[in-house]
Amino acid sequence: MIVLFGHQKGGVGKSTIAINFAYQIQKKYKDLALLDLDSQNSAILFNQLREQENLPCIKCIKDEDIDFKELISTYSKNKNNLLIIDSGGYDSDINRAALIKADLIITPVGISQIEIFGLQKFRKILKEASQALGKTIKTNVLLNNVDSRSKNKLKDLREYIKDKSNYFNLLDTTLHTRADYKNSYGEGLTVKEYNKKGAAQVEIKQLVKEIYKLLNK
Ligand SMILES: Nc1ncnc2c1ncn2[C@@H]1O[C@H](COP(=O)(O)OP(=O)(O)OP(=O)(O)O)[C@@H](O)[C@H]1O
Ligand SMILES: [Mg+2]
Repeated sequence: MIVLFGHQKGGVGKSTIAINFAYQIQKKYKDLALLDLDSQNSAILFNQLREQENLPCIKCIKDEDIDFKELISTYSKNKNNLLIIDSGGYDSDINRAALIKADLIITPVGISQIEIFGLQKFRKILKEASQALGKTIKTNVLLNNVDSRSKNKLKDLREYIKDKSNYFNLLDTTLHTRADYKNSYGEGLTVKEYNKKGAAQVEIKQLVKEIYKLLNK
């Protein structure tokens, strides 16, 4: 199967969530890999931090090192294997190809007017990619970086997503603003390894459960 963390908007949490998701779900698959399309190579760099600390690493690959079509055919629709794609925060041919090939798309969004504008732009991309595929491509929106100041905008965002339900489905899981994400990444640790009983880990665990269920529907 192929799960894409995709959004052309930068800084919404795609890499942070993709990495934590990948490490947490790995035991469920015979073969799991993370394709890093982030221009900063956040996942590759994370693995380098882990290697320095002699921590076990998941398979992490760069697009320049692989044949994209071959990689897709290895993982697509195969329930024993999982390819996680961390998309770049920009529009490009490979990011669009990933949108078309993914079995499941997750789009993290923060809570602000800028994020609604970002989603409007992403919807346009989804629409064009759907036309290229000849089938509607729907993404699962994940509310991320939610805090107590988000209340009013949260309502607007939820309404926007509901209103555009042909392209967007809102996930039940919500990820709140938690310092554990930044602090753990800096040490080459997942939030689970950093703070096993922390709130970030509890939410990631819930997300893994929700996505796993969607993949096995
Ligand atoms: N729930 C959260 N709580 C606190 N910080 C967060 C949360 N989610 C993401 N961040 C922080 O936001 C920043 C941006 O996250 P990240 O790099 O994962 O975004 P991205 O979508 O992958 O960006 P890009 O499109 O540039 O690749 C990071 O510093 C990360 O630690
Ligand atoms: Mg990223």
